[in-house]
Amino acid sequence: MNKILSDTERAELIKAAREARKNSYSPYSHFRVGAAILFENGDVVSGCNVENASFGLSLCAERKPIAAAIVGKDGEPCAPCGACRQFLAEFSPEMEIILEDGNGFKIFKLRELLPEYFSPANIAG
Ligand code: THU
Repeated sequence: MNKILSDTERAELIKAAREARKNSYSPYSHFRVGAAILFENGDVVSGCNVENASFGLSLCAERKPIAAAIVGKDGEPCAPCGACRQFLAEFSPEMEIILEDGNGFKIFKLRELLPEYFSPANIAG
């Protein structure tokens, strides 16, 4: 869905992402990330990064579950990593990605962050 959020909705998502960040398990990077997504039905689902001693098994916040607002260090934009962009683009290339920026936001369409992404259409027979 191609929805434009209000600043109040954006701030609520950032708040939910901050709350989720409290659950971050990041003993290796010590970089705590929280993320939250607003669904079409009004539900907000949030998650955090969960690392593993076998580093390759670590989960970014946006993949557990999908994210729309992402927080890392307070007030600093924390851009979703390339793997998460690809993962999310499969489902919602038009979704709004909201990053903290001082007291405001940086807002992108996911598609802007991953132009010409590899999509299901690429492998359709
Ligand atoms: N991380 C995320 O959770 N999301 C991102 O988009 C960037 C990176 C996490 C993964 C790892 O646990 C830590 O930040 C340092 O890379």
